[in-house]
Amino acid sequence: MRTILVTGGAGFIGANFVHYMLRKYPEYRIVVYDKLTYAGNLDNLRAVWDNPRFAFVKGDICDRQQVEAVVREYGVKIIVNFAAETHVDRSIIEPDAFIQTNVYGTYVLLEVVKDLGLERFHQVGTDEVYGDIPPGYRSREDDPLRPRSPYSAAKASADLLALAYYTTYGVPVTITRGSNNVGPYQHLEKVVPLFTTNALEDKPLPVYGDGRQMRDYMWVEDHCEAIDLVLHRGTPGEVYNVGTGQEIENLAMVEVILETLGKPRSLVHFVEDRPGHDRRYAMDISKIRALGWTPRYTPREAIAKAVRWYVDNPWWWRPIKEGEFRQYYERVYGHRKVLGTLRDTS
Ligand code: NAD
Ligand code: TYD
Repeated sequence: MRTILVTGGAGFIGANFVHYMLRKYPEYRIVVYDKLTYAGNLDNLRAVWDNPRFAFVKGDICDRQQVEAVVREYGVKIIVNFAAETHVDRSIIEPDAFIQTNVYGTYVLLEVVKDLGLERFHQVGTDEVYGDIPPGYRSREDDPLRPRSPYSAAKASADLLALAYYTTYGVPVTITRGSNNVGPYQHLEKVVPLFTTNALEDKPLPVYGDGRQMRDYMWVEDHCEAIDLVLHRGTPGEVYNVGTGQEIENLAMVEVILETLGKPRSLVHFVEDRPGHDRRYAMDISKIRALGWTPRYTPREAIAKAVRWYVDNPWWWRPIKEGEFRQYYERVYGHRKVLGTLRDTS
């Protein structure tokens, strides 16, 4: 039985990856290693908790001794690193943990992979490292990195460290750079779950700036399949873009949410923009397509599917919305001026 250590597996994409891998590979054991920050949630792993091929260890990827002990104890051969601080708005207010976890934590994992001679280190990266992409262009894997937020700068640093460990020490590293994911178990700070649950409660949807920014919204399980493919068929030292290749405007994302829920456009409030807000992310995905992957869902289909999951699973999101998240919401949105509503401007 092969054992994969999934760091950050109690978060959104990591938990979906754990479900997917346990379902697909009866011969794999999955050990989740997670610090359980505000974003880590054991409810995300409820469905696999009693699976004999699953184990959970609470721990920090910055703690080298503990990472090494877990790798030895479980005979881990592969590490897939999802552990990160992930929200751009939080990185603007408090960047410290982003540098610590996303940069130093990735370095610690690379050191362990190098010293214990593991088979593979897979780094889960983001398209945000390419920065703001002008209309008509799509980022390719060997483009220069131009991150513009503390979050994306820390993620770019992690990618570069991983590639340096491949070049310098021959550590078998692969990297995927995913676009914006949507689906089950996504923290409510991210736009699709936030807007969906606000709309369900007839609360305003705070759209930043003019809402014309473009994102490539991808179904989370499509992303999990791509990571699986790169783990098994990808080439060490290589980077693979993963997305639908079809970005849409945030206002179109909002329309899908409102239509799926049958809620009025008057819920849309245009509010003060995020500082340094990237207007457009767009990737060329021909490299991962050539490896044999293709996305199953378009951004619109993925968003509608995600919305229906939140409608069906209030048990999951209500406790988050009623907890510490209220203080966070007040801090990020409380002071933001409302600039207009959709009715005013359309
Ligand atoms: P998330 O915020 O939902 O989950 C992050 C998880 O990491 C949480 O369970 C948290 O407890 C854990 N964690 C944080 N710091 C840790 C530490 N020091 N040690 C151990 N565990 C720690 O994040 P997500 O949206 O699932 O993203 C997962 C990965 O995918 C991240 O690396 C992110 O940069 C990348 N990514 C995300 C998206 C997206 O749309 N969400 C897109 C592309 C790439
Ligand atoms: P988000 O889910 O935070 O992902 P990222 O910033 O990493 O792409 O935001 C997605 C898009 O939605 C981004 O253009 C910012 C915008 N947005 C809003 O307009 N209002 C919000 O309240 C949030 C959280 C995001």
